[in-house]
Amino acid sequence: MKEDFLKYQAQTSSHPLAMEISHAKGSYIYNTNNKAYLDFVAGVSACPLGHNHPKVVSAIKDQLDKYMHVMVYGEYAQKPAVELAKLLAKNLPESLSKTYLTNSGTEAIEGALKLARRATGRSEIIAANKAYHGNTMGSLSIMGYEERKQAFRPLLPDVRFIEFNNEKDLQHITTKTACVILETIQGGAGFIVPKNNYLEKVRAQCDKVGALLILDEIQPGLGRTGTLFGFQNYNCIPDILVTGKALGGGMPIGAFTASSSLMDLLMNNPKLGHITTFGGHPVIAASALATLKEITNSKLMQQALEKELLFRKLLVHPLIKEIRGIGLMLAIITPSETITNSLVLESQNQGLILFWLLFEPKAVRITPPLTISNEEITKGCSIIIGILNNI
Ligand SMILES: Cc1ncc(COP(=O)(O)O)c(C=O)c1O
Repeated sequence: MKEDFLKYQAQTSSHPLAMEISHAKGSYIYNTNNKAYLDFVAGVSACPLGHNHPKVVSAIKDQLDKYMHVMVYGEYAQKPAVELAKLLAKNLPESLSKTYLTNSGTEAIEGALKLARRATGRSEIIAANKAYHGNTMGSLSIMGYEERKQAFRPLLPDVRFIEFNNEKDLQHITTKTACVILETIQGGAGFIVPKNNYLEKVRAQCDKVGALLILDEIQPGLGRTGTLFGFQNYNCIPDILVTGKALGGGMPIGAFTASSSLMDLLMNNPKLGHITTFGGHPVIAASALATLKEITNSKLMQQALEKELLFRKLLVHPLIKEIRGIGLMLAIITPSETITNSLVLESQNQGLILFWLLFEPKAVRITPPLTISNEEITKGCSIIIGILNNI
């Protein structure tokens, strides 16, 4: 399979891990030799309930038996999508009441940017250095990492960058600004958490100049930081919330949520302001609904913070310079890229899945399923410490 994978499936890296997958269950992924790998990555934060959670699988199967795709987004009332949007609203501040469902995170970002321009009649978009919001042209335009976007220029005009957590840069948010878009916790940059009430200050400056605030919660979302969404840890409510990854419970999804007065602007000038064929797909929405129900009805969110403490207690080593992040969105910072590479690659040999972050070569991602047990955390951490001891 590996040979055909490399030959027929388009590659974006010269050294993919190329593990040959057989099946996955709970916190484990199995290769075709039936070797079990403990998963500390969860499909890059996309499998909050682990693999093949019975409630999610059963919701998908039930929906498959009823209907799959029947109509483009927004024309027919389809129960899974309606209930998902309603349950999201129930768990969000009152102003975030209406949700548009998309097929991926980056597509939800595109919708949010369009909505901000449509609502303000302004064009300037402010994003952060080292931000990652996806890979379509709009999202690429607001990526704060020139090396990865240079080859695709020209991109969107009127995009300006500020430094995350730098209050002085907030003066660049002016009456020309349509929106400021930030990750609540910067992911690709190395799990950088907002400090000194930074988000509150961004919110205040946006309010002062009439700019909209978009928070990208595609990674912190759905319980990973101890609250359903990361922004709920801070005193800052965005005008547009963008979600994805974990929301799908292992299926492809994205969503942006705003007030109905904002969202209804997509109905006119022009009409059909944002359209998609498959967004809100009933099978995917059923998976998302089951996932959201399980996370909001269980203790998984609170337990994420207890599990963080266990990781921090066990991951003490001279080669671990820092552990960044909150809850189960953690990054080990090693002294060098070489050590990070050795740790990620050797862990795979030893049956533990770790992964890199996009723009921080010294970081090792730890974003396990929220359902991971204390025993599994202990087992994985002892593999990490063992590898570091041998470096
Ligand atoms: C913060 C953030 N925004 C946007 C995206 C893009 O989401 P997708 O890959 O589903 O398009 C990602 C994906 O990694 C992300 O981490």
